Amino acid sequence: MTQAVSSPEEFRGACDAARARGHRVGLVPTMGALHEGHLALVRAAKERAAFVVVSIFVNPTQFGPNEDFAKYPRDLAGDVEKLGLARADLVFAPDRKAMYPDGEETRVHVGALAASLCGPFRPGHFEGVATVVTKLFALTGASVAVFGKKDYQQLAILRRVARDLFLPVEVVGHPIVREADGLAMSSRNAYLTAEERKKALALSRGLASATRAFDAGERRAAVLRGLARTEVDAISTSVDYVDVTTPDGLVPFADDAVVGDRALLAIACRVGTTRLIDNVILGEDPAPSP
Ligand code: PAJ
Repeated sequence: MTQAVSSPEEFRGACDAARARGHRVGLVPTMGALHEGHLALVRAAKERAAFVVVSIFVNPTQFGPNEDFAKYPRDLAGDVEKLGLARADLVFAPDRKAMYPDGEETRVHVGALAASLCGPFRPGHFEGVATVVTKLFALTGASVAVFGKKDYQQLAILRRVARDLFLPVEVVGHPIVREADGLAMSSRNAYLTAEERKKALALSRGLASATRAFDAGERRAAVLRGLARTEVDAISTSVDYVDVTTPDGLVPFADDAVVGDRALLAIACRVGTTRLIDNVILGEDPAPSP
């Protein structure tokens, strides 16, 4: 059974003790409601560090006023059990006051990487993510932290945070874990009705269609975007974006642009009332759908 602690002091103490025993600390930050995608990150962390800690904290500062903070799925007991099976060494499940004590006011500001994709649709979101993850880096002294490419922009921003603040942590990206039919795993998939679950396949189908075109030589940004967009438009209640960007700077390509050997194709849209995201790196990832 994996132990769970809720106090930052106890968490820091356990990480310090592991390091004193000569172990590298590996960190996997999550918001819980764990699925196979999260557990894959834990296993990847285990390959890189002897002492793997997983945080479970639905971070209020990364949710907008009209987002799903209150109804976000929570299942601490189930999560701790899954993490035991995945051989995590310690779970950190603090409450809001522990992470944001009265009077705290410091935030990690993020720059241009937050200007595209989800940034404009979720003001303050990446600042909230960067702030809570920086707190977790500081508490753990982790040598390595593993994040999913499902949240590709988040991963890019956290890499930059570590680099810009000289944090001694290696930020590792893990491939997106998908259901057999192509749907990217997400805690938010639990919100989908059976009918919406079928509709949601349009995201991976659209990405797969663009990937196949790219692999066949298509390089026009508008055409690649259009292939994904057509699928998503057919089922979505609202589309935040279907964008093709540079893979590192996340700068969107104009419609008349031609992409290079690698490009990010990313989608954010609503299926019913549930906001879903998915992406593929053209020129790198296989087509994400059967
Ligand atoms: P959460 O959505 O719980 O995701 C935790 C980690 O799991 C993130 O790194 C995310 O990219 C990864 N993940 C989720 N679904 C995945 C999938 N299908 N395949 C691979 N990785 C997947 O992302 C957050 O929480 C928060 O923003 C957090 C970083 C914890 C800060 O609060």
